[in-house]
Amino acid sequence: MGWIESIIESRGGEVSFAEFMELALYDPDHGYYSGTEPRYGRRGDFLTAPTASHWYSRVLSNFLVRMADEAGPVTFVDLAAGDGSLLAGVSEALGRRVEQVLERCVAVERSPVMQGRLALRLPAGAEVVADLRQAEQLSGPVVVHASELYDALPVERVIAGDEGLDELWVAVVDDSLVWRQRPAREEVAAYFSEHRVRLEPGQVAEANLKMQNLHRRHLRWAGEDALILTLDYGYDARRLYDARGRGQGSLACYRRHQLSRNPLESPGEQDITAHVNWDDLRAAARAQGWKEIGFWPLAEYLVRAGLAEVVETFNLGMEAPMDARTVRERQEIKRLLDPEGMGSDLKMMIQGRGRLAALSSAICKKP
Ligand SMILES: C[S@@+](CC[C@H](N)C(=O)[O-])C[C@H]1O[C@@H](n2cnc3c(N)ncnc32)[C@H](O)[C@@H]1O
Repeated sequence: MGWIESIIESRGGEVSFAEFMELALYDPDHGYYSGTEPRYGRRGDFLTAPTASHWYSRVLSNFLVRMADEAGPVTFVDLAAGDGSLLAGVSEALGRRVEQVLERCVAVERSPVMQGRLALRLPAGAEVVADLRQAEQLSGPVVVHASELYDALPVERVIAGDEGLDELWVAVVDDSLVWRQRPAREEVAAYFSEHRVRLEPGQVAEANLKMQNLHRRHLRWAGEDALILTLDYGYDARRLYDARGRGQGSLACYRRHQLSRNPLESPGEQDITAHVNWDDLRAAARAQGWKEIGFWPLAEYLVRAGLAEVVETFNLGMEAPMDARTVRERQEIKRLLDPEGMGSDLKMMIQGRGRLAALSSAICKKP
């Protein structure tokens, strides 16, 4: 019997899908994100924007410089800091300006192995914590960044029937993992009714019951003069739960850049991810008086946040000689702008409060 089957047996032989996903991704001994090597990046199973190209960190650094020019040095928090690619990239791009721009730098990462890697890669004085609650109170101005945190959180999974909603649980039968239908618990059914979603018979969907509260906690922590930049895959509820587009849900698994739709295969060896319902982040912000500054595909965010200006500072603009460096760097930029991939599929939501909200609105005006 495999490791996850033994754990499920010890819990009565079946678990909700969120419990299964929590084990498959975060079990301290066998979970996908507990391994000793980072799972994402060019040599990993999938790419994220910060691991795909250093231009992502460069543009963000430029954005931070412009904030700090007006508001003074900022506290920068990277939620789900992963292998440290983003923070190392920001620190490299800022170079000697780091002290003028960053008052404090906090990496929040759940995986103990990645925390170890972060500690080696981050600039002196940066803090590494497993949970924001372990960090000292943040004080403004604060910029919080989260790339692919929310799509890596465990979700519940449901299937609609003629009579109502069932949950898809995971059970062990003859030492193997199988799906099992259970009538939806109240909180799971409530999630869909609160979003005014009616699934069609046979439609499968996921619900992240914890994300809205977690985002509220992040907003509260960020304070009164703050921004949160959330980069992730997802849709608003109307599109996410449209049977014509995603009749079988958005759950996807990745291993060596190959997509699979079967999360029960090789637990701990493949990533499992589900799209974000952006309406949950909007509801959290509304409840706490935050404003939505913008919501754009990654490519558009990069352009608004000053990509052209950053490219010029590296002498790679239109006038640059067509040498090997220019070609290579333009390829690096293209990874992030790809209209068939990341450039359009990944979305950036910027939410803000206080002076930073006004500053970022001005910076991200349509170019
Ligand atoms: C898909 S990776 C993204 C890493 C990085 N942000 C990037 O874009 O390259 C998801 C990361 O989120 C971390 N994670 C998951 N839940 C978390 C939580 N509640 N707090 C902090 N990190 C978390 C995982 O350990 C993993 O390293």
